[in-house]
Amino acid sequence: MRFAGLVNKLLVGAALLCAATASAQTIKIGVINTYSGPFATLGDLIDKGFKLYMKQNAAKLPPGVKIELVIRDAGGPNPDKAKQLAQELIVRDKIQILTGVVFTPNAMAIAPLTQEAKLPFFIMNAGTSVITTRSPYIARFSFTLWQSTYPLGAWASRKYKTAYIAVSDFAPGHDSEAGFERGFTEGGGKIVGKVRIPLANPDFVPFMQRAKDARPDVVFSFIPAGRQATQIMKAYGDLGLGKAGVKFIGPGDITTDEELPNMGDLALGVITMHHYSAAATRPANKAFIAAWKKEYGEKSWPSFMSVGAWDAMDAIYYVIREQKGRIDPDRTMALVKQYKNPNSPRGPIAIDPATRDIIQNEYMREVRKVGGQLANVEFETFAQVKDPWKELQKK
Ligand code: PHB
Repeated sequence: MRFAGLVNKLLVGAALLCAATASAQTIKIGVINTYSGPFATLGDLIDKGFKLYMKQNAAKLPPGVKIELVIRDAGGPNPDKAKQLAQELIVRDKIQILTGVVFTPNAMAIAPLTQEAKLPFFIMNAGTSVITTRSPYIARFSFTLWQSTYPLGAWASRKYKTAYIAVSDFAPGHDSEAGFERGFTEGGGKIVGKVRIPLANPDFVPFMQRAKDARPDVVFSFIPAGRQATQIMKAYGDLGLGKAGVKFIGPGDITTDEELPNMGDLALGVITMHHYSAAATRPANKAFIAAWKKEYGEKSWPSFMSVGAWDAMDAIYYVIREQKGRIDPDRTMALVKQYKNPNSPRGPIAIDPATRDIIQNEYMREVRKVGGQLANVEFETFAQVKDPWKELQKK
């Protein structure tokens, strides 16, 4: 009897423990990001973005549900490393959702694994159009380069006759080149020269010299956001392109918000098309900037990468809430296709159910001084743009 009583007690105890663990559900989220090497500042901006979201929105998780982040560093563009990390996160850590990823080559290497493992993968940055076609388990919360460069090409064709294209020699650079060229030439503009710049340790001066020698009305450029943006701006200034009347334009990567203080007045007048400016005055962005500065200091600025991280985390919280803390991969993807946020810091956003890419406003911006500081000031809105690369393929 005594023995049976003990067994009973143990069973009751075990059942209670199970009930407790079931209600204190922990969702494992893998993050592959860039924390080391020359692009570490980009990973830091993403890290700060999703952590700020989590700190501010803990109440949006169902009661008893916790998130455990499993964070890994792929360094820069390093597909082999990214693939190995994703494999480990899937097999060993048994993550239920994967997120992060600054660089396209890394996202491309991870994509097939997410299909094999049925692992929802919410991209925070990597912006080459083709990525989302490589696995039905990918949804993207950042942008595509086509989304900014194709309408920018059209806009520029109404202002300028000739353009020179200088882009980083990797996939998002190639997309930027193709998007701008198509928009600009469809509008009647002429491309007078093109150059592709190595991604690692570039010296921008010889490339900008070639651009100057071609005597275009405008130089269009894409380089990865971060320090390279300041370096190319300096080369443009040092060679006197601005003084020679040659305009500098590109996607927002070339005037990324956090680098503006390092660029100085050289950046004044640079025109870009992008989905996010830290200087935007819509209330959701003002609240976001205030929270950011409170957390990270008055001198710190978020960038479009931080907002990609913020919005991806909002979607992760949404799919967790809708499933009451139990992640089913196919249900997660069905839910994310319905995801909308009328109030992102960047404006209204939605996931396109047909492509799992983001639909968002693109803003024409000019670098101006606001309150003594350089800022990307929005002056025209292209509402609710879908990825043009995918739209054009339908035609
Ligand atoms: C990318 O690899 O897709 C990428 C990297 C840096 C950027 C934009 C896109 O600024």
